[in-house]
Amino acid sequence: MDIKMEIAKSLSAVCSVSAEEIAAAVEVPANGEMGDYAYPCFRLAKVMRKAPPLIAQEIGEKIEKPVGVARVQIVGAYVNFFLDKSAYAKEVLQTVLEQGTQYGKSEVGKGKTIVIDYSSPNIAKPFHVGHLRSTVIGNALYQIHARLGYHCVGINHLGDWGTQFGKLIVAYRKWGSKEAVEKDGIQELMRIYVKFHDEAEQMPELNDEARLWFVKMQDGDEEALSLWKWFYDISIQEFERVYDMLGVRFDAYTGESFYNDKMAPVVEELKEKGLLKESEGAMIVDLEEENMPPCLIIRKDGGTLYATRDITAALYRKKTYDFDKCIYLTALDQNLHFAQWFAVIKKMGYDWYKDLIHVPFGLVSLDSGKLSTRHGNVVLMEDLLHQAIAETKKIIEEKNPSLPEKEAVAKKVGIGAVIFNDLYNTRIKDVVFSWERMLNFDGETGPYVQYTHARACSILRKAETFQTSEVDFSKLDDEATMQVCKLLEAFPAKIQDAAAKLEPSVLTRHLVVIAQAFNKFYHDNPILSSETDVRLARLAVVVAVKTVLAEGLRLLGIDAPEQM
Ligand code: ARG
Repeated sequence: MDIKMEIAKSLSAVCSVSAEEIAAAVEVPANGEMGDYAYPCFRLAKVMRKAPPLIAQEIGEKIEKPVGVARVQIVGAYVNFFLDKSAYAKEVLQTVLEQGTQYGKSEVGKGKTIVIDYSSPNIAKPFHVGHLRSTVIGNALYQIHARLGYHCVGINHLGDWGTQFGKLIVAYRKWGSKEAVEKDGIQELMRIYVKFHDEAEQMPELNDEARLWFVKMQDGDEEALSLWKWFYDISIQEFERVYDMLGVRFDAYTGESFYNDKMAPVVEELKEKGLLKESEGAMIVDLEEENMPPCLIIRKDGGTLYATRDITAALYRKKTYDFDKCIYLTALDQNLHFAQWFAVIKKMGYDWYKDLIHVPFGLVSLDSGKLSTRHGNVVLMEDLLHQAIAETKKIIEEKNPSLPEKEAVAKKVGIGAVIFNDLYNTRIKDVVFSWERMLNFDGETGPYVQYTHARACSILRKAETFQTSEVDFSKLDDEATMQVCKLLEAFPAKIQDAAAKLEPSVLTRHLVVIAQAFNKFYHDNPILSSETDVRLARLAVVVAVKTVLAEGLRLLGIDAPEQM
């Protein structure tokens, strides 16, 4: 039942405006004394040529009470509606209980494909916290869209191609050894890569050598490619350890190297369409009309670029997946890069350029000193996650030392805290790591929501099982219960809103508000000690909240332990 729509229909019957238009204007008053819903009549003044309070009076006399509404009241220019509380609670709770983990599911995305390009770290470089955001936001958007019936394709567009690998090959041949790389993995690759840069300052000819090696890679030279493949495998192994900890999967690991043999026809197409221009020996697409610097397609030395591969990848994805939307999760410092090559796609005459969406996010900053930075200034994802688990373990030892499976719970809560912290604010805001804040069990945090969920589970463990049909919902008519029900009712719309805005924080915040409302409900209403009818009715609230919190966390990529 859509109460808002019922109200809008009743209003529409007594004034000359469509129910849809009215529904959009129906408000939820901040103050419960002004009703559960309110309709301001100001907008009707023009159509009905009367003062708004007069219109409200007239509506009050004529309106038929909408289904689910107990009372209609006129205050000034407002028509206020008071819900029939227990009927409303019944409607909402029955729906959640019946649908269980399917509550919030919808088919709005049915038949539509969304490609999500996320995480996409650069191989032979450590997986640092900057890639965390792309990974967790991308994963949440994936889960959210999947819930709405979209066909999702998650792509890890690894940075695994480019002149930097020529540099790495030179560095390895000069200063590396098989043993050291096998022993220290990416750390060792980083070390020799940094050394290359230091040395190249004195010996610029090293750069020419590196370019040659990259050209060899492009041309399929065996020695060059086998070294590259080795670096690649080592990197992927390390990345997968992080993905396992985060519980993140991809449908395809088609990184930049995948497009090596697919770029030539695209460059040819650009040429044929008259878009390619020579500039200082390089090939560019001019974007003066678009007020942007030119998009570099081919370097002076024949090397292709990040943008060349992105353009090629977009054409490949359109052909392969026929997406309705292809979204790219990167920090906002890549805004220009995406704007430029999206413009190139447009100039190529593809009207689906509109469906390419860059979804930028802010930077990660550290509450300095608190994070171990074992390796200079880069904070490694793996270290960070291990530290989150260790910090959580300390809290558990303090709060609940006899908890079973402490290790597993610390992992779920520690990692959940990191993910939640990342998804709590609108993505464009910078994220600050502060263990104290993100692990605060009473704050607006992952552990707080998880703890509330575990509390609900604990109540249910102590209570008897029951059937929804046994519940007498007329026992539920207090404000705290109403508040919980309203938030549960809003859950499906929040999922859709999060998808529409590509903004997981819509959901993250809603979960915090549900947890807060539930804790108030729990505080105001004794459950296990109440008489049977009341107890069962309140238990229905507990089951519904538990279900929605667990499902909401799942959509964000966070586990919900039953005990904490
Ligand atoms: N590898 C890039 C980086 O670490 C991110 C790639 C994003 N995806 C893309 N299709 N450009 O900055």
